Amino acid sequence: MILTGIVAGGTGSRMGHTALPKQFWELAGKPVFVYTAEAFLKSTDFVIIGMNPAYVEQARQLAEQFLPDKVFVIDGGADRNETVSRIIAFAREKLACQREDVILTHDAVRPFVTQQMIQDSLAAVRNCDICTAAVPATDTLAVSCDGSTADSFPDRSQMFLVQTPQTFRIGDFEEIYRSLDEEEKHLATDVCRLFQAKHKKVKLIAGSPDNIKLTYLHDYQIACLLAKNR
Ligand code: CTP
Repeated sequence: MILTGIVAGGTGSRMGHTALPKQFWELAGKPVFVYTAEAFLKSTDFVIIGMNPAYVEQARQLAEQFLPDKVFVIDGGADRNETVSRIIAFAREKLACQREDVILTHDAVRPFVTQQMIQDSLAAVRNCDICTAAVPATDTLAVSCDGSTADSFPDRSQMFLVQTPQTFRIGDFEEIYRSLDEEEKHLATDVCRLFQAKHKKVKLIAGSPDNIKLTYLHDYQIACLLAKNR
């Protein structure tokens, strides 16, 4: 079985205080999380959306309106990895998923994932523990511990910006997540960092500069233009 876990448990605080979190904002006439989920329905058996608990009912109504039966909306967690953990627990309990089943995990607010990225992820995960979409860094990067002085400038040719989807077997995630203490769980902002902390092989597949994450208002404005031109 191939699953998709869409992480939508956040509040979108960097967008400012808005009536609805960014995953509900409209893109091409649909809420962003619906737009994102549709991309995965073409190539996975089920899509599970881990939503900010305050908005689960609203999201279920929208899912009923826009998405087929293969989609479930459940409560997300207190941070991104906890949302992934809840999605996997649901998949085990309600869909009888097995350890070896593959899950693509993806940010709800990254609506421009392509079928090519999904297919490349499914192919790559056969030969690694986890794979993630990523793009080469185009700006020079600086490391700064105090935020005001640059300590070093890493070689840009070795720097990549990590995106999603991030794809792995659910049994591996369960094992790693169980083995971490609370501090370790919160330090890792995504699943790749959890796997890397346990010396698992993280493979990179080609993402795209268009596979943007809606973080600031500016990103949403770009997303509206990209959606219009599709
Ligand atoms: N996410 C999640 N569960 C959380 C926090 C975040 O599933 N408890 C999801 C977000 O909904 C988003 C993705 O992780 O789809 C990437 O996170 P980010 O862009 O940081 O989203 P927010 O946490 O909503 O934004 P902000 O940090 O500005 O509050």
